[in-house]
Amino acid sequence: VADVRGLYRDTGIFTYDPGFATTASCKSAITFIDGDEGILLYRGYPIEQLAEHSTYLEVCYLLMYGELPNKEQGESFNHIISQHTMVHENIRDFIDGFRYDAHPMAMLVGTVGAMSSFYHDSLDINNPEHREISAQRLIAKMPTIASYCYKHHRGMPFMYPDNNLGYVENFTRMMFAVPAEDFTLNPVAVKAIELIMILHADHEQNASTSTVRLSGSSGANPFASIASGVACLWGPAHGGANEAVINMLDRILYSGETIEQVIARAKDKNDPFRLMGFGHRVYKNFDPRARLIQKMCYDLLKELGGDQPLFELAMELERATLEDEYFIERKLYPNVDFYSGIILRALDIPMNMFTVMFAMSRTVGWISHWMEMHEDPEFRIGRPRQVYTGAAQRDYPSGR
Ligand code: ACO
Repeated sequence: VADVRGLYRDTGIFTYDPGFATTASCKSAITFIDGDEGILLYRGYPIEQLAEHSTYLEVCYLLMYGELPNKEQGESFNHIISQHTMVHENIRDFIDGFRYDAHPMAMLVGTVGAMSSFYHDSLDINNPEHREISAQRLIAKMPTIASYCYKHHRGMPFMYPDNNLGYVENFTRMMFAVPAEDFTLNPVAVKAIELIMILHADHEQNASTSTVRLSGSSGANPFASIASGVACLWGPAHGGANEAVINMLDRILYSGETIEQVIARAKDKNDPFRLMGFGHRVYKNFDPRARLIQKMCYDLLKELGGDQPLFELAMELERATLEDEYFIERKLYPNVDFYSGIILRALDIPMNMFTVMFAMSRTVGWISHWMEMHEDPEFRIGRPRQVYTGAAQRDYPSGR
């Protein structure tokens, strides 16, 4: 390492790892990924088995507490979450203050951060009970806040939560129902949303989770820490990808570009265009979540019927990449976002809500990591270093 005079000195081990591709920032017992084999486990359970047998709330319990709940624990957890779905009335006013055309993610970042001003009776990060109640509040209130943001954006009346409904049913109703009008839940939609939520619940030290841990490591309160995760998730290289996938597929459909032209552009290093929904930092094999969601996408579109040009185009693109040297060499396969966007579009969920739904699903992952960090005896404030590349020490010019 060069010191400020340009002299080199031995500082012991000092690694330079742009993008933290090979640096573990913590120990964690929550989620395991084997990117080469395409394996994803939550607390040891394969994602495929959880997707088939579990509910989103059961997965929340598993991620937070480390074990699947027994009957009593499950019922008690569901009850606690359903009792915390209401938000303070002033949060409605707070959301009302946003411009009508604000992006729902912009509102979500601000509103989650603002939760610490409404729920400041649970901000003592050194108190395990405070940590737990904050976690429960976040999981319970996220769907309410997410749907409020959407209703504000659409200029439609808010729907209060109905605590007799399940978690996903409640969210679906708050999103799509209108007061004083009959509303029938579509069970296919509920099943698809539940699957998407299970698949997005956690993914170890991705950018947003690392952000939550880093902000939380300073002792920031849980709501502020989760708000920083929401902000990070918004980027198109992370949670914004499924929205970017639909934009890309729409553009291709309407431009008349051929698959060959699209693939050529994605490979052209002078063109910033990337095939959205392809590639992953960790999965160098098929993303196991993409397999599950691809199947759901297929079943759902069959059930809904009609012409599905977006899905057909997606399948064509996938087929073309599987035969292309560029994608094969770089191990670029469809990731979870490639198909989740198509499902959400088929369910008539507006595109600007896609990342909001991802944030809602990932809240449990973020808060489980935040809680695990605070229980870790080795935990210290996160403080990455840098390799300085600026000017060597110099004197201020005389006579200036
Ligand atoms: N299209 C075309 N080329 C790609 C793509 C893509 N989608 N992704 C990676 N590459 C190429 C890169 O240009 C690079 O090529 P080179 O070796 O010739 O320079 C090589 O593959 C490696 O790419 P990196 O950018 O180094 O891979 P990294 O691990 O840093 O990035 C990422 C992973 C961000 C997901 C990237 O693949 C990407 O931008 N994908 C599209 C966006 C996307 O789908 N994001 C969602 C991620 S999943 C999630 O957040 C839930």
